[in-house]
Amino acid sequence: MSNRRISGFKPTGPLQLGNYLGAIRPVIEAQHRQPTTVFVADLHALTVPHDPARLRELTTQVAGLLLAGGLDTRSTILYRQSDLPAHAELHYLLECVASYGEVHRMIQFKEKGGGSGTRLSLLTYPVLMAADILLHDIAEVPVGRDQRQHVELTRDLALRFNERFGPVFTVPEAVLPQVAARVADLSDPTAKMGKTNASTNGVLFLLDPPDVLRRKIMRAVTDTGTEVVYDPERKPGVSNLLDLLSAITGDKSEQIAAKYENYGSLKAATADAVIALLEPIQRRYHELTPQDIEQALAQGAAQARERADATVSRVRNAMGLTTAQPAPAGSPGTPTTAPTPR
Ligand code: AMP
Ligand code: TRP
Repeated sequence: MSNRRISGFKPTGPLQLGNYLGAIRPVIEAQHRQPTTVFVADLHALTVPHDPARLRELTTQVAGLLLAGGLDTRSTILYRQSDLPAHAELHYLLECVASYGEVHRMIQFKEKGGGSGTRLSLLTYPVLMAADILLHDIAEVPVGRDQRQHVELTRDLALRFNERFGPVFTVPEAVLPQVAARVADLSDPTAKMGKTNASTNGVLFLLDPPDVLRRKIMRAVTDTGTEVVYDPERKPGVSNLLDLLSAITGDKSEQIAAKYENYGSLKAATADAVIALLEPIQRRYHELTPQDIEQALAQGAAQARERADATVSRVRNAMGLTTAQPAPAGSPGTPTTAPTPR
């Protein structure tokens, strides 16, 4: 049984600390123990209004930050989703297995969708996510809590497909990070820190300069009272800072709380820890050239393509479509052989 993992990052905005602690770091930490595939989900970024030039820029930036954050392309496949047409093809085929009712219920659509001008792709986006996962015979999907429902849908679709058309798909599972499953916005601790939040005051972007990081943390909303205690219900602001420090240091939030006399000293310590965490990543990021990033993505696409195309062929056959025979080796247009993917 494979223990392969996959993770995807939408280039809808610059990556923020919640992405790093909730998704990037867990993936990078496990990459030498478990075969891992990571992709920049640029097709997903088309589900909301977008600017083409900005999308291209963010796609490169997200890939660069993954590399700077420690993704090792010798063991991990990193590619850009739109480089593999298999995602779009499997998306359509899975739409023929999913029902309107089940995707309409997804929380993210309820939150972001609604108006008649909403892109139809926002409704069907969880099915594209299912295609991303099922393309690669994935066993584990490390995601933040907000994405768990989409992995559940993926499981439902895989089981239904296998029952209807034969055992084609591996049924994946969501894996939540032990810490930092949900980093909250510093200016509104009831909201998730997100790269597209309306105000950026409470969002710590991975490429924010140290003085900006410090200012945002020192201005974080705290709660009434002055005592530093860990109580997510009654003191969500302070508890979010404690959770952040806990995710960075590995110590328990309750134990960290005991070390600080007041909110000011807790904030200063959090700022120091966040800056120390991000500085080396920023340094490595600024050393990468756009060519380095492009080259890594091209290599990854070549590695991922073979596996993805093989899955689509299995699905086509199971559903009663025919699959064109690949051209004989050596004939014009034959793709060059890709390095063996893990
Ligand atoms: P997104 O920014 O929505 O593309 O998310 C990319 C990955 O980061 C997903 O696995 C999310 O669950 C995770 N993630 C995003 N924001 C947070 C957050 N505030 N706390 C924890 N995980 C997050
Ligand atoms: N939907 C995810 C998000 O918004 C990104 C994503 C797309 C993803 N496809 C995926 C994550 C496949 C894990 C696996 O964060």
